Amino acid sequence: MIEDSLKENLLLKEVRNDFQWLHQNPELAYQEYKTTEYIKEQLKKENIEILDLPLETGLVAKIKGNQEGSVMALRCDIDALPIEEESGLSYASKKPGVMHACGHDFHTSVMLGVAKVLNLYKNQLKGTIKIVFQPAEEVSGGATKVIETNALEDTKLIWGIHTAPGIPVGTLAIGEGAVMAAVDRFEIRIQGKGTHAAYPEKGIDPIVVMSAIVQSVQTIVSRNMNPFNSNLVSITRIEGGNTWNVIPEKGFMEGTVRTLDAEDRKQIQTRLTDLVSGIAKSYGAIGELTWYAGPPAVYNDASLCEFARKVASDLDIAVAKVEKSLAGEDFSYYQERIPGAYIKIGTGGEHPLHHPAFIADPEALVPTVKYIIELVKASLESKLV
Ligand code: NI
Repeated sequence: MIEDSLKENLLLKEVRNDFQWLHQNPELAYQEYKTTEYIKEQLKKENIEILDLPLETGLVAKIKGNQEGSVMALRCDIDALPIEEESGLSYASKKPGVMHACGHDFHTSVMLGVAKVLNLYKNQLKGTIKIVFQPAEEVSGGATKVIETNALEDTKLIWGIHTAPGIPVGTLAIGEGAVMAAVDRFEIRIQGKGTHAAYPEKGIDPIVVMSAIVQSVQTIVSRNMNPFNSNLVSITRIEGGNTWNVIPEKGFMEGTVRTLDAEDRKQIQTRLTDLVSGIAKSYGAIGELTWYAGPPAVYNDASLCEFARKVASDLDIAVAKVEKSLAGEDFSYYQERIPGAYIKIGTGGEHPLHHPAFIADPEALVPTVKYIIELVKASLESKLV
C-alpha cells in the first residue's frame, strides 16, 4: 500500500536521527539509563511491545506476526566506552570521556529501524521477532543479564551484527567457525619472603619468580599448542615492591588468554596453572593462579553463514571474507543456547574500533536495516526456525 511505503520511508529517515542522538549521548556499561529511555520512547511511538523484564538497563522488544510461526531474535548492544572522542563529527559525544567508539550506536539505531519497519508489516510476518537491546557488552556481562530473564527461552535462532571499520560501506563480512575469541582473565599471586636488598639469601625474591613466569608462559603457545591454531597469552600488569632497597614479600600479575578452540582453552588454563605453581615452587615461593572465565568464542554455524550470504547476494550486497579476531564478544553466550550467527557490517572509515577517531559511516545505516529485514523474513520462512 502506498501509505505503508510512505510511512516506511519516514521510518527509515528516523534511523539517522536515532544514530546521531545515540552518538551524542553515549553511556557506559550498566549506566545506559537515558539510552534505554530513548529506545523505549521510539518503540512506544510505534506501539511496539516491550517485554516486562527485570533489566535495569537495556530491553527486549517483541513483534508478533499475524501468521503462526517460530520465535527468532535479533541482538544489538547499546553501551559506549570510556574514551574521549576525537572524531571531529558535528554530532560528536556531548559527554566528556565517553564515546560510542565501537559502533553500538550504529547497531542500536539499525535495530530500532528494523523494529519499526517490521512492525509496520507485521501482518505479513510468519512468527515472532524478539529484538534484544543488550546492555553492557563492553564488560561482557550484559548478555548473561538478558539470558537470565528467560526472555529468549522460546527462541529458535538469533542473529547479531557488528560494525567493521576495515570493510567498505555496502559490504558485509560473514565467516563460519570461530570468528572471535574466548576471553579469559587470570591473576597470579606470588608469596615470597621479604628481606633487605643487600641480604637476598635471607629472603625469597618474588620479582625474580615473576620474571621467570613472564618468560615461561610464552612457551605455552609456542611449545604446547598446535601452531595452526590461534592462541594468545599476555601478562599485562605486574606489581611488586615499593622501593629500591627492599626485596618485597609478595608480587601480583594479571593478564588474559585468548583462544578460538574449547580444548585449547582448557589446555592453556592447565598449563598456566602448572607453570605458575611449578616455577614458584622451584624458587621456594608459593604461586597461585586465579582464573576468571569470560565469554566463549563466537562460533558461526556454516549453514547459517551460507543462509545469510544468500540473502545478501539476493539483494546484490557484496560479502567479504571475515578476518578472525582474538577480541571477544559476549554474543557467544546466546550462541551457547540458541543457534545463531554474527554478521559484520562494513562501515568504512580509517580508524579501528575503540579508537578516539572511530567513525561508523551513517551511509551504511539504511542498507543494513533493509538487509536485516530481508534476513528476518527469509529466516522465518525457512527451515532454520
Ligand atoms: Ni562492540
